[in-house]
Amino acid sequence: MTTKELREKYLEFFKSKGHAVIQGESLIPENDPTVLFTTAGMHPLVPYILGEKHPAGSRLVDYQKCIRTVDIEAVGDTSHLTFFEMLGNWSLGDYFKKEAISMSWEFLTSQEWLHINPDILSVTCFAGDDEVPRDTESAEVWKSLGVPEERIYFLCREDNWWGPAGRTGPCGPDTEMFIDTGKEPCGSDCRPGCGCGKYFEIWNDVFMGYRKTEEGSYIPMERKCVDTGMGIERTAAILQKKASVYDIELMRPIVEKVEALANKGYGEDFQVDTSIRIISDHMKTAVFILGDRRGVTPSNLGQGYILRRLIRRAIRHGRKLDMPADFPAEIASVVIDLYRDIYGELTVKKDHIITELEKESERFLATLAKGEKEFEKMVPNLLKNPQKVIPGRIAFRLYDTYGFPVEITEELAAEHGLTVDREGFDAAFEKHQELSKQGAEKSFKGGLADNSEMTTRLHTATHLLHKALRMVLGEHVQQMGSNITSERLRFDFSHPEKMSEEEITRVEEIVNEVIQADLPVTMTIMSLEEAKQAGALAFFGDRYDEQVKVYRVGDFSMEVCGGPHVNHTGELGAFKIAKEQSSSQGVRRIRAVLSD
Ligand code: ALA
Repeated sequence: MTTKELREKYLEFFKSKGHAVIQGESLIPENDPTVLFTTAGMHPLVPYILGEKHPAGSRLVDYQKCIRTVDIEAVGDTSHLTFFEMLGNWSLGDYFKKEAISMSWEFLTSQEWLHINPDILSVTCFAGDDEVPRDTESAEVWKSLGVPEERIYFLCREDNWWGPAGRTGPCGPDTEMFIDTGKEPCGSDCRPGCGCGKYFEIWNDVFMGYRKTEEGSYIPMERKCVDTGMGIERTAAILQKKASVYDIELMRPIVEKVEALANKGYGEDFQVDTSIRIISDHMKTAVFILGDRRGVTPSNLGQGYILRRLIRRAIRHGRKLDMPADFPAEIASVVIDLYRDIYGELTVKKDHIITELEKESERFLATLAKGEKEFEKMVPNLLKNPQKVIPGRIAFRLYDTYGFPVEITEELAAEHGLTVDREGFDAAFEKHQELSKQGAEKSFKGGLADNSEMTTRLHTATHLLHKALRMVLGEHVQQMGSNITSERLRFDFSHPEKMSEEEITRVEEIVNEVIQADLPVTMTIMSLEEAKQAGALAFFGDRYDEQVKVYRVGDFSMEVCGGPHVNHTGELGAFKIAKEQSSSQGVRRIRAVLSD
């Protein structure tokens, strides 16, 4: 069964059980600072699990692209992937344990659906602890369906509890379904979840009955929900009787392309295989991050840093296999083709994806050469260290100066029989992140995704928009929020009613006139008090330091702001309001774009 068939069958089955098929979401969560990427199908549905009404009803089904990078070090083995797709069905205060488990069983074992032999299925249930009781109810349902007691395992919180992806959120006990691969048990206590590979997890039904608070306590939810997740790649590997997720048809063409470019066969040498898997996995994930509708580009912070690590680690392994320098673009094309029918956004953004990969490759190769030389120079001294440990601050210097992700330092180190003081590195890295974050907060007025050229242009356009809105709608207009990515600006402002067509057009005209006038953008530093007296717009009260930067656009606008901005408005291009809508009571939201 292909992944396409698996995906279709899943949606069809749950549709036949009254579920509405909904669209998967972006890989980059909106309005959720607790995680960098969407890590599970439930993630975009958290507000609905917590009680918001979902427009499609109380039974939902979808497939969702996900990224988990906690396992990034494990990638290279045969079962971990950083990018995967998850099939899921949800009950939002509708059915609970009995129906959820019965439907899972029917889908897995019925001849009409996956037709998996029930004799190779095992399940796990929550064993209970001080806070939440043992889940005997789920176990009883499994028994009633014919699962023998010896294949129902009660495990602790570590195994059978779904915690929120971030610090807070919905959570609860779960019941997980495993396939017995037929391998020999690893010992007398071999069991699902022991990690030896005999039992292969394919599905998880979570019974969302609690909400975890900031303080770490669990509050029972009145309206109970079900959240399930089935990994497409893992399940397909089982259905296709493949030894690894790298052998299924959504991975195989990527692996083959790497083999061809490296001129090496997969399955012959352990080191080579590991590199091939790392390159295949990381390139696929990088393509999906770059191709996402909220795509980010490589940087040293947040999602951009994960992306940079993925690309750079793949390149490093590509070099080990003597692959041509342009291999990332070649592999990206294979990934994009492979997912053409399912994720059309990749095709739309193909040029962008390839260009960004090329740029990052060039940047990396230039610094890599320098960094490796530097590292080799350090080796004789490092080898004198009796523990053979590279201090964290040295690893951090390589990262900071040469753009070496620490994993690369570790790999180089291992080649010389050295290790890296990872804790020391992490401490130095965290300090750096904290400082850059503070810097970013100080210098950016909330919500600048990066300081790329396009983001900077949109940032200046935001000032023009702000002023134009005050001219057209009145002085009551105040900035309530701003969020800028390299694709669009989003501006929230106080205004009691929907803007008319005429008002929108007038605002666009004013902004475009200022752009055409090519006014200079200048910056002066002064005290907040002076800035206010000079008439600068400043609405963030004590969030500002005593001394502030004031940006002026000719005589048109004056605002307290950290920058960055363009030098002349002529650099902006044509301004267009793409959408005007309500944001909350008394607050409107505008999305606008610039084009050349
Ligand atoms: N949210 C659950 C998981 O991802 C279903 O395993």
